[in-house]
This record gives sequence, C-alpha cells and structure tokens, in this order.
Amino acid sequence: MATGKLRIGVLGAGAWARAAHIPGWLRDPRCDVAVICDLKRELADDAVRQFGAGESSADWEAVVSRRDLDVIDIATPSHTHYPLAVAAVEAGKHVLCEKPVAYEFQDTWTLARRAGAKGLLTKLGFTFRYSPGVQYAKSLIDEGFVGRPLVFNGFEQNSQWLDPQVPLRQVDHTADQAVLQTSSLEGYGAPIIDIGMWWVGAGWCGPLVT
Ligand SMILES: NC(=O)c1ccc[n+]([C@@H]2O[C@H](COP(=O)([O-])OP(=O)(O)OC[C@H]3O[C@@H](n4cnc5c(N)ncnc54)[C@H](O)[C@@H]3O)[C@@H](O)[C@H]2O)c1
Repeated sequence: MATGKLRIGVLGAGAWARAAHIPGWLRDPRCDVAVICDLKRELADDAVRQFGAGESSADWEAVVSRRDLDVIDIATPSHTHYPLAVAAVEAGKHVLCEKPVAYEFQDTWTLARRAGAKGLLTKLGFTFRYSPGVQYAKSLIDEGFVGRPLVFNGFEQNSQWLDPQVPLRQVDHTADQAVLQTSSLEGYGAPIIDIGMWWVGAGWCGPLVT
C-alpha cells in the first residue's frame, strides 16, 4: 500500500468484471485498480481503455506474483477460480473470488484456513447479501424479531424463466449431457446456500473439515 490505497489486480475482463467488479473498485476512493488481466489481451486492453484505470496484462501468473499489489480479484470462468485463488494466497495476496472457489468444498475450506493462517482476508462474490431485502431480513433476525431460525427454505426466481422461448443462461448447452452438470446450483444456488447458512448459522460445518 505504498500510495496509502489498496492496489488491486483484477483477473478476467469479461462481462461480470466489467459490470460489477471493476466499477465497484473504482467507486471506492481507498482502492486503485492497478492491473486488469485477461488471457485475451485485447479484452484487458479494452477494459483499461473503458475504465481509464490500471495497466493491462495477459499473464495472470506475473500479476499474482507482483509485489506492489494487495488484492487479487478473480472474475474468471468458474473452473479457473481454484488454481488462481491458490496462487494468489500463496503469493500473500488478499483475495476476492467469484463463486464457486472450488468444486470440492473441502478445497475451499482448506484454502480459507491457509489464507487465515497467513493473515490474509478473503471474500466471495455473494452479491445477494447486499440487496436491501436480504439485509433487512438479516437485521430482523439479529434483533430477535423472528426468534431463532432453525430451518431455511430458499428458492430462486429469475426473469429468465418467464419466457419459455429464452434458454436458461445458467445451463451450458454445449456441456456433455452424460456428465452431471451443476448449472443452477453453481449459479444462483450458491448465494441461496450462502444466505441460508448466514441466517440460520453454519457452525456445523467445522467438524466436517479435516
Ligand atoms: N456473483 C454473481 O452474482 C455473479 C454474476 C455473474 C457472474 N459471476 C461469476 O463471474 C465469473 C466470470 O463470469 P463472466 O460472465 O464475466 O465470464 P466471461 O467469460 O465473460 O469472462 C471471463 C474472462 O476471464 C478470462 N480468463 C480466463 N482464464 C483467465 C486467467 N487465468 N487469467 C485471466 N483471465 C482469464 C476469459 O478470457 C474471459 O474474458 C464466473 O465464475 C461467474 O460464475 C458471478
């Protein structure tokens, strides 16, 4: 933090990085977007131009190992999150990672513990935690208004399903149909599970992790 600001390296210059991550960092005067990196160099260049921030890179390993960055922000496709997050934690960086971190929950917990042991902060892209309705419900729980919640029933409702002619974007239509696809569970399922654990409590998760 030589400048007194957090210096951020953003991995991925795709749709979500541009819609949410980069604008979010830029709105916070405590942060500097120092690098935007995408394997497709032209996307990184384009994002740097679009946001007028940072320098562009196509080499995520070089970005992660830079000594002048405090935070690595991972907004790449889901299957890449885990190796990138491991590399970032091992390089001593705080990490904001899109969900899912990994496809095995033990990997996520192990990495979270590793980050904690190194004094690093980590956070997931659980956007729905910050919607006003969800925040209000949490405040009612905290105030004791609804007593102690023991059961959480969550369902996802999405405008994609209102028109049967519109294909669900969370389904990978090119995926091998012989292999179980996580689709919805990986999409909005993740924040629903997160909200349920946040509201009802996740104390039972600890003993499962070895
Ligand atoms: N939390 C939310 O509400 C929310 C919403 C939308 C998307 N997401 C998540 O965000 C992630 C990105 O989604 P998207 O729609 O932006 O995808 P996208 O395909 O538009 O963009 C991903 C970009 O990452 C780049 N990339 C791949 N590997 C890389 C690497 N090793 N280093 C640097 N760049 C790399 C790709 O070239 C691509 O441009 C996904 O995991 C998705 O699940 C989360």
